[in-house]
Amino acid sequence: MTADTPAPVVDKFLLRSVHLFLLRPRLGLSAPGRERHAEKNDRHDHEDRRNHQQIIHTGYRPTPAFRACGCEQSAPRYPREVAPVRKIIHLDMDCFYAAVEMRERPELAGKPIAVGGGGRRGVVTTCNYEARAFGVRSAMPGFIARQRCPHLIFLPVRFDLYRADSARIRAILRRHTPLVEPLSLDEAFLDVTASDRYAWDIARDIRTAIFEETGLTASAGVAPNKMLAKIASDWRKPNGQFAILPHQIETFMHDLPVRKLWGVGPKSAERLAARGIHTCGDLQSISLAELTRDWGRWGAELYQLCRGIDDRPVQPDRIRKSLSNESTYLENLPTLEACAEALKPLVTELLEELRIKAADRPIGGARVKVKFSDFTVTTRECACDVPTLPIFLRLLADAHARSRQPVRLLGVGVRFSPHRREESLQTEFSWGNEAVAENP
Ligand code: TTP
Ligand code: MG
Repeated sequence: MTADTPAPVVDKFLLRSVHLFLLRPRLGLSAPGRERHAEKNDRHDHEDRRNHQQIIHTGYRPTPAFRACGCEQSAPRYPREVAPVRKIIHLDMDCFYAAVEMRERPELAGKPIAVGGGGRRGVVTTCNYEARAFGVRSAMPGFIARQRCPHLIFLPVRFDLYRADSARIRAILRRHTPLVEPLSLDEAFLDVTASDRYAWDIARDIRTAIFEETGLTASAGVAPNKMLAKIASDWRKPNGQFAILPHQIETFMHDLPVRKLWGVGPKSAERLAARGIHTCGDLQSISLAELTRDWGRWGAELYQLCRGIDDRPVQPDRIRKSLSNESTYLENLPTLEACAEALKPLVTELLEELRIKAADRPIGGARVKVKFSDFTVTTRECACDVPTLPIFLRLLADAHARSRQPVRLLGVGVRFSPHRREESLQTEFSWGNEAVAENP
């Protein structure tokens, strides 16, 4: 494994179209469009930098395409005429837990490994890319993973190790900007708008430093906003980086599956697909009024997101206090039994999200929210440190008893506790059993 440090590359179109850089006077991006041009070309790199320098001096000239990408709205403290395009990096470690384990045990290099519970009811937390080639995936039951890859090596989850690496990685990120917003142990957003350097170069330097100091590889996405940067970091995984430039947003979004949008999970994607909406292009053909009518505030968000617009700032001090998952139903749920059925997938998704985003955070309580057909809302909460489906079902029954009307919305959530708990929450959450891993 080597740290891939790709030189910025430029496609011919970009070189011919210097004027396009006028769309991003301060956005130091050098990646080409969607297609990767693997060849590293010093001459092009040099020309790209020279062009960019000229443009910086040329100044800012917003065009209709630039306005349409929504970037102007992203920094309201600047007058519109000089608003800089933001430079956001999303960094995501490659098969993080598995990579740490491979580093610790070099004899495993090249072999398919999974981290998690290997027993009958255990589950794959993550696996390396060798295992992925066999079709093994995160959250897959251990026995299925073994069927797909009989030589799969299961290793136990060791949070202390991952937390230590996560802290080292965050320290590297903070060398480049204080505007670092961690999302989970292995991913974070950075806002490097204020830097005079190319965001592309900063991302590459960060990846190189991470590799040199931890022996782990990371992938990065560079874009004018958080949603696009996160999509971009997935585009060249593992050990790669990809940029989406403002003038590329329109084309990029057109064919992008809606599932890639922030907040669109498998359920939402299904609901959209039922209406013939598969790509962001499909979604763009629906008016704001229609989306808001059908999906409320989420519909309004979708209207922006499917156009690649996302004004959320990078929030360095954000500490998540809770995590929740809710769904509004197209047809009201008539009975408690129907609500209980609908609650199950919500709980499964919530526990899954907990595993990914907050596996090391102790839980303080569980909560259920119910919105009845007359739009009254009630919530029911209890203290608990291990949220399970029976707890949520009990809360649901209590909440439902308060009105007994048909239900239009259900929500489940957990509140994090400020106190640290040492034991791993990972296996207790969703599977409540023996995710004690087997060693090879
Ligand atoms: P991810 O970044 O989603 O996955 P990954 O880093 O293993 O692989 P990729 O190269 O695709 O980024 O998650 C980071 C860590 O979070 C992962 O190593 C293990 C943990 N995790 C879970 O606990 N449960 C899950 O379902 C997933 C996907 C990850
Ligand atoms: Mg990752």
